Amino acid sequence: MTSKPLYVYLQRPDTGDWVTVGRYKLDGESEIGRFRYAPSYEAAGHAWTIDPVNLPYLPGRDWEARRYRGLHDVLRDACPDAWGKMLLQRQHNLPADAHDSRYLALAGNVDRWGALAVGPSATPSVAALSSPRLPMLEALSRELIALFERRPALDARLRQRLVATPSLGGARPKTTIQDADRYWLVKPFLPTDAADIPLLEHVAQQWGRACGLNFAETVHHALGDGLSVVRVLRFDRLGKRRFMAVSGASLLQTEYPFIGPEESARWSYPRLAEELKRIGAPLADRVELFDRMVFNAVAGNDDDHPRNHAAMYHAQENRWRLAPAFDVVPNPVEAPRALTMQLSMGRFDISREAALADAIRFGFKTLDEASAHLDALLDRIGAGFTRVEGLLSPELRDLLQPRLQDNLALLR
Ligand SMILES: Nc1ncnc2c1ncn2[C@@H]1O[C@H](COP(=O)(O)OP(=O)(O)OP(=O)(O)O)[C@@H](O)[C@H]1O
Ligand SMILES: [Mg+2]
Repeated sequence: MTSKPLYVYLQRPDTGDWVTVGRYKLDGESEIGRFRYAPSYEAAGHAWTIDPVNLPYLPGRDWEARRYRGLHDVLRDACPDAWGKMLLQRQHNLPADAHDSRYLALAGNVDRWGALAVGPSATPSVAALSSPRLPMLEALSRELIALFERRPALDARLRQRLVATPSLGGARPKTTIQDADRYWLVKPFLPTDAADIPLLEHVAQQWGRACGLNFAETVHHALGDGLSVVRVLRFDRLGKRRFMAVSGASLLQTEYPFIGPEESARWSYPRLAEELKRIGAPLADRVELFDRMVFNAVAGNDDDHPRNHAAMYHAQENRWRLAPAFDVVPNPVEAPRALTMQLSMGRFDISREAALADAIRFGFKTLDEASAHLDALLDRIGAGFTRVEGLLSPELRDLLQPRLQDNLALLR
């Protein structure tokens, strides 16, 4: 019971042309997937690896996938998560246990993450549909909320557009908007939100930037009737160009969302740092990851799961690098005591000891060096907060201000 092949296309990092990079097949019985780099890809002398950990470029070899019931990690990265899956289920009447490869094929390539696309034919065909433009932000956001609440369409064309572009990951309703040659992820406030999450996300991203960290650019929009929307600059798009990306889950060779207690043993910042080193990212990226870990600890962002980290391919540098930080959202309800990823071996707790125990694995030469780095970083995070706190609502300030003091004390 082998499925029909699904061809995988890649937008070449050098010329921007689409090429067929390989072929995926699922054996439905054993739930083992097989991917093979295409002979034509090899013949043309291409050698870009689409997943530097799990699918090294080795022509002629069948790479088996067992995670995700037989879908290769980087293909899973190109699938929707809860939000997009829900849209596709409604649209195509999919059973609850539909295989991820169905979502991969049905989601369409228009908004897909990274530089991969898929299709049924051996020659690449990737429709170049333009995205809605910035002036549509408010109408699209209202339509997203209506869709989320299962209300009838406010604007049939926008509804159709949203339903036709469900490919991006994550649980929250989202869409992509274009402004000149830049693309932004649009995430509106939801009636079920316990706090103004879009504002909180915007402030957290700005806070990270104010500390000198590589956090994705964001803009916040406060619109009428309490509508709050954050837009986040997509690092995997520029003009017509798409950039290869892999999630932290793929780099860590773990499944996310969670499927069993053994998985979280693999969710670890120091391990992710080692994987970054293994795939050729520079030391600066490992230190940046350490800094993000500490930032998440201070801000109480315990939604720091493996799919909220990523690496991207830099064509000019010809290497994989840590992607900008995204989806950094302090817990809006309570101050967490632990993160979702281990700060050091077996330790999820927010504490100085946990933050420093495995510092060497991030590339620090000595514990003293790491300690001094941590102290300077905590100063920067504290100072960064004072630069952005004016953006917060009084409620959010009451949430974050005491947490900042408490967590700085735990880490000093
Ligand atoms: N700035 C960005 N540039 C490129 N891709 C991004 C960016 N931000 C997010 N993504 C991609 O979109 C996915 C969903 O985005 P995001 O994590 O912000 O959504 P979410 O619904 O809040 O997620 P979660 O389920 O973790 O709460 C991410 O997993 C990542 O693959
Ligand atoms: Mg996310």
